[in-house]
Amino acid sequence: MTIKTIILAAGQGTRMRSSLPKVLHEIADRPLLRHVYDTSRTIANNSVYIIYGHGGEKVKSTLSDLDATWIEQKEQLGTGHAVQQAVRYIDDDDTVLILYGDVPLLKSHTIENILNKVTAQTISLLTVMLDDPTGYGRIVRDQHHAVVKIVEQKDASESELLIDEGNTGILAAKGDKLKNWLSRLQNNNAQNEFYLTDIIEMAVADGLTIQTTHPASQDEVLGVNNKVQLAHLERAYQAEQSRLLMEHGVTLRDPARIDVRGEFKQLGRDVVVDVNVVFEGDNEIGSNVSIGPNCIIKNAVIKDDVEILANSLIEDAVVGQGSRVGPYARLRPEAKLADHVHVGNFVEIKKSTVASGSKINHLSYIGDSEIGSKVNIGAGTITCNYDGVNKFKTIIGDGAFIGSDTQLVAPVTVGANATIGAGSTITRDAPDEQLTLSRVKQISVNGWKRPVKQEK
Ligand code: UD1
Ligand code: CA
Repeated sequence: MTIKTIILAAGQGTRMRSSLPKVLHEIADRPLLRHVYDTSRTIANNSVYIIYGHGGEKVKSTLSDLDATWIEQKEQLGTGHAVQQAVRYIDDDDTVLILYGDVPLLKSHTIENILNKVTAQTISLLTVMLDDPTGYGRIVRDQHHAVVKIVEQKDASESELLIDEGNTGILAAKGDKLKNWLSRLQNNNAQNEFYLTDIIEMAVADGLTIQTTHPASQDEVLGVNNKVQLAHLERAYQAEQSRLLMEHGVTLRDPARIDVRGEFKQLGRDVVVDVNVVFEGDNEIGSNVSIGPNCIIKNAVIKDDVEILANSLIEDAVVGQGSRVGPYARLRPEAKLADHVHVGNFVEIKKSTVASGSKINHLSYIGDSEIGSKVNIGAGTITCNYDGVNKFKTIIGDGAFIGSDTQLVAPVTVGANATIGAGSTITRDAPDEQLTLSRVKQISVNGWKRPVKQEK
């Protein structure tokens, strides 16, 4: 079965009150339209066509990586008119699936259910039972419960308005039939639009039956028209992510206080996540990892037996097995910690490698550095890697001990097992094994008196 998916995404989204086109608003850092596209991509033998209009260039350029055909709908004359824009791409024996670019949480499983019910003699329609169907097209059924038509809210009679089965807009039909119905659409209705929904009545007149499917939950078929709905669906999406994590075996201290804005490329066993943790981008997390409260973990590789303590930020960084990071640590891009490294509070590490067993426990900045194994970096150490124009490297050999409050003015190398005396400013290479210090000698002034306040 060849499937052609048409995603309707030309609507303006005025109620978002934003200069951003509606389908570019994001759930979990992913534009609404990308959610729909990604889900449609799980269907085999499927080509994707996107109907764009308002702000279309921005939509296209933001989502230029999508493997889809972009079709412009210059004027938004209704959902039927939108699908008409794609007819030249539809072959007679195709199965055509209609999705909405602003309905982001529809599941692959539901799409499969819809597709399984399309035949030459049926339209497959996704409908939903609603507590409040206001605004939705209503599914009108006859005395045998067969669907006979869809009537839009604005065209509905009083009795039709009482129907609580709503049209989601999502449907599938065979190409030849669909093209025929599309060519016969009229806009003599309350909104003077070409309604896609009118094909239902035509199909019934042609002797077809309408097969309906329901979604597993209402959230799957909810559209985004304003920021309240966007926030609602963000929470629904996050609740689902939490559920999936817990099913995988992750312990969440509070499933309502974690956000996943991306994917886990790997996720081990016995991972414990405390409250207010945000995962962004692609993360790889090993086994027996605990992540404290208020951490942001982005594009990170975290190996087994790692402890990330409260309020730490980790971005594009690697944390080796058995390492401990935080509280209040910041690992910036290209920070690479080997095994059993300790990084403590108020330590920032950027574009640096730290070999196994080394400790940087307090108040330090390490940038553009190569740090050997079993190195101890004292509190307040700073690699001065930048002269205002260029960046330079600091290299520290295995077993070195850097005393507290040291500035290492790069480019500079500290040898293996070297010791740097506290409070030093190191501007030249420090040899292996020796003590190097650049400290002003301490003196005491005999007979010195503190100034005293004069009595008035
Ligand atoms: C539509 C359905 C209604 C259904 C509701 C579900 C019709 C006539 N009505 O109504 O039965 O209950 O969706 O939300 O189909 N779009 C375009 N081009 C257009 C018009 C719309 O691309 O010219 C896109 C919109 O961007 C949106 C989707 O189609 O993604 C639905 O359009 P919208 O205006 O929201 O339709 P409703 O009036 O809500
Ligand atoms: Ca709508």
